[in-house]
Amino acid sequence: MYNAKAYSAASATTPLASTTVARRDPTGHDVQIEILFCGICHSDLHQVRNEWKNVMPTVYPCVPGHEIVGRVTRVGSAVTGFKPGDLAAVGCLVDSDRTCPECRAGLEQFCPNLTLTYNSPDKHLGGVTYGGYSDSVVVDERFVLRVPSNLDPAGAAPLLCAGITTYSPMRHWGVTEGKKVGVVGLGGLGHMAVKFAHALGAHVVVFTTSPNKKESALRLGADEVVISRNAGEMNKHAGSFDFILDAVAAAHDIDAYIQLLRRDGNITLVGAPDKPLAVSVFGLIFKRRSLSGSPIGGLPETQEMLDFCGAHNITANVEVIPIQKVNEAYERLAKADVKYRFSIDMASLKAE
Ligand SMILES: NC(=O)c1ccc[n+]([C@@H]2O[C@H](COP(=O)([O-])OP(=O)(O)OC[C@H]3O[C@@H](n4cnc5c(N)ncnc54)[C@H](OP(=O)(O)O)[C@@H]3O)[C@@H](O)[C@H]2O)c1
Ligand SMILES: [Zn+2]
Ligand SMILES: [Zn+2]
Repeated sequence: MYNAKAYSAASATTPLASTTVARRDPTGHDVQIEILFCGICHSDLHQVRNEWKNVMPTVYPCVPGHEIVGRVTRVGSAVTGFKPGDLAAVGCLVDSDRTCPECRAGLEQFCPNLTLTYNSPDKHLGGVTYGGYSDSVVVDERFVLRVPSNLDPAGAAPLLCAGITTYSPMRHWGVTEGKKVGVVGLGGLGHMAVKFAHALGAHVVVFTTSPNKKESALRLGADEVVISRNAGEMNKHAGSFDFILDAVAAAHDIDAYIQLLRRDGNITLVGAPDKPLAVSVFGLIFKRRSLSGSPIGGLPETQEMLDFCGAHNITANVEVIPIQKVNEAYERLAKADVKYRFSIDMASLKAE
């Protein structure tokens, strides 16, 4: 075991602060990674503030972070896919049972025995896993991803959650050329969804509550931008969408979006507000529309997404911050004031 520097929250109401956490020495199949950048996902904020207490209560101290890009520093004797010096990435998963039908299908995100990167029972050391707001992490090579060398590491980090969480449902629901696709909420996830839908050839419409994001939405690849608080603008799109991805982090009216789907259209929720959302069933019945959810993605699809990003030169638009600004970043994230992802430069942790 060794001590890694990290930032943790001691409770739902205390700011994140400098600390150290125990990491295991790499065993046979492990890869040790020096973390270069870690994105700040809104899930980190939900989890640190224990907003998901009914579904996955937070164990404190909590070290968040599941958008990790770094450099391999050491590998176990049985590791074949990585060597010291390689660029490597870790997302939301660090382990699973590997034997259930979901794991065998490469859909580890549905494994009943998965280990999340933070706030999951740690099979090796006891306690809970600690995430990427840290200078290093040790992960089984099966859960380590390869980062295409043409991608900027700071902008690539958010691909590990915001990227795969939006790419996966678009692939599942058949987003292709000629489809009309809506993206609700232009935050970290939403802006990746716009880039993917555009790259897949769809006609992309962004729904935002922030009029000041209109110009940049168009630059990200949107064909149209709708200010969702304007009912007139919304109604113009009634019954016209093949697919809508909803990435809003707070309570909102999803019926307003269900009305915009065509026959057999689908709206997938990836945003995870803590409170239930109301649904009028008639909106679904009349046009055989469907409403679904989607969690992150499995390892094979995450690698496919990274390779897709390499081929299309896609990264997140990031505001790089030192770890010392993380609490300020959380305040801004809560107000939807980031274009479009904070990425923590982990070199700043050396000063702690
Ligand atoms: N399903 C999964 O596997 C998964 C994975 C990662 C994250 N998530 C969840 O996805 C959600 C989004 O994450 P993120 O990191 O993209 O967050 P984010 O960067 O904060 O973006 C959320 C966006 O939602 C919109 N929004 C916020 N409050 C709103 C409100 N009261 N009414 C309407 N719109 C509002 C804002 O967009 P506009 O300014 O454009 O309106 C905001 O930028 C979070 O709940 C997160 O936990 C789920
Ligand atoms: Zn996330
Ligand atoms: Zn499994």
